[in-house]
Amino acid sequence: MKQAIQIAENVYWVGVHDYNCRHFHGHIFPIAEGTTYNAYLIVDEQITVIDTVEAEFMDIMLERIRSVIGDQPIHHLIVQHAEPDHSGGFTQFMKEYPDAIPYASNAGIQIMQKQYFKEYPFQKVKTGDQLVIGKETLTFVEMPLIHWPDNMMSYLNNAHILFSNDAFGQHICSQQRFDENFCLTHCLEQAKLYYANIVMPYGDRVAKKLDELAKLNWEIAMIAPAHGIIWKQYITQILDAYREYATFGAQNKAVIIYESIWKHTRDMAEALAEGLGKAGMEVKVYQASITDDALMMKELLDAKLILIGSGCYNNEMAATIAALLTKLNTCHMKGKQGLGFGSYGWYRNTVSSINQKLVEAGITLCDETILSQNYTPSTEDLDQYSAWGMELGNKIMNQSK
Ligand code: FEO
Repeated sequence: MKQAIQIAENVYWVGVHDYNCRHFHGHIFPIAEGTTYNAYLIVDEQITVIDTVEAEFMDIMLERIRSVIGDQPIHHLIVQHAEPDHSGGFTQFMKEYPDAIPYASNAGIQIMQKQYFKEYPFQKVKTGDQLVIGKETLTFVEMPLIHWPDNMMSYLNNAHILFSNDAFGQHICSQQRFDENFCLTHCLEQAKLYYANIVMPYGDRVAKKLDELAKLNWEIAMIAPAHGIIWKQYITQILDAYREYATFGAQNKAVIIYESIWKHTRDMAEALAEGLGKAGMEVKVYQASITDDALMMKELLDAKLILIGSGCYNNEMAATIAALLTKLNTCHMKGKQGLGFGSYGWYRNTVSSINQKLVEAGITLCDETILSQNYTPSTEDLDQYSAWGMELGNKIMNQSK
């Protein structure tokens, strides 16, 4: 029988592991080692559950709940987020516990009805509302569009636990439930990967929500998200990291992403990387078609310079590059500089098209140069790209002094 894991006095993790998940949110976000769907059980005078899990794992969640409360009834189910990884088990839960009262934000109630085609006796909650469950009280804070319209978090007043739902999540799929079992670097890298792929477009809202949380002045002993490990030892660090992510806090880092058939654009990318590296910048170079989108998004989050290259295919940029630029246009990036580059044969406008897309994505062009190469770059051409990269790198490094 699957057991619950106690995380504080009268508070239990009753979530599940999805060890085989490799593509989170459909095929949009590849992940390396699976994930967890975290749900929590609070045993007080009125027993309360925070979130459910994906439908296929719901029997496991119910086993964990019963390992603590046996056949006792559950009084409240808090639906912090309607996305199916946290609400998929809702209908089964309500069959098992028909007297439980479900709670959600206004948007959450509407989405739940549109997803599960049935009216349930939802109680609507908004920021500041409280639910007294015995000695403990839950206080709700809505966080609309971080990252769906309905997301909210719940604070357990006496235990000082912030159930944060998707916020502060990461895909660390482990039997260990707390951050203290892992090094800080690993936890923050995983949190950054998650943020860049799920939350990045909502940075302004994240920054405001962090301000709102700070003003509440809540003592926080744990941040318990809906994916991955619970933050206990590194709470200050993850809050600071989110502040950085939300404002696109940029490092002296260049990310070069390209697509190339006959290696000409690739050679340009690598020459530019050499020059930027000589200037002291950290440089990441990726061929789009063989690199996970998720990794590229993570590296773009804190890059200062973004160079996008493509050869010319039927008078257009490569489809992978067009798709990436479309994605960048949804990210509302701030403070980034960029430029297009690429080799062409008989249609020379691809680089201009890339530059236009970069501008549309809110990325400032770092130079007026059109980095367009007709057919094969010679050794001299590549030396010039490298020298140009070094000059650009020096300029960007000097801007941050
Ligand atoms: Fe983890 Fe927005 O679902």
